[in-house]
Amino acid sequence: MSDDLFSKARSAMRKCHAPYSRFPVGAALRTEDGRIYAGCNVEVVSFPEGWCAETTAIAHMVMDGGGVIAEIAVVAEKLRACSPCGGCRQRIAEFARPDTRVFLCDAAEGVVETVLMEDLLPKAFPTEAVR
Ligand code: THU
Repeated sequence: MSDDLFSKARSAMRKCHAPYSRFPVGAALRTEDGRIYAGCNVEVVSFPEGWCAETTAIAHMVMDGGGVIAEIAVVAEKLRACSPCGGCRQRIAEFARPDTRVFLCDAAEGVVETVLMEDLLPKAFPTEAVR
């Protein structure tokens, strides 16, 4: 993993807006051409309207011209190995390859587990289907 991906995810986590769940999450991704984007979860009082840390990071990447995700680290303050939710798995897959590495992190220890995209979301709805 590129050295600072975990620390960037943890810094992003500290910027979260999570007053309802009090469950801070951060994510940081590196594109194949070496750019890094981070994000935190953002909650809204009408609960389903909030969004995840991974989604914020992906939005930053898209706003900066898009890219292919080579690696993504996810960290939560209160979970040892934070794994992306179902919706975020599909969002990451949209910009990933089967061998994209997903790092499940602990806020104190760093990377606890590394999973490949193809294992995190097997049989993903294929982007080719609607292109
Ligand atoms: N959350 C994320 O940011 N990423 C995930 O992959 C799972 C959940 C956030 C959403 C919500 O703000 C909080 O964690 C509790 O579900």
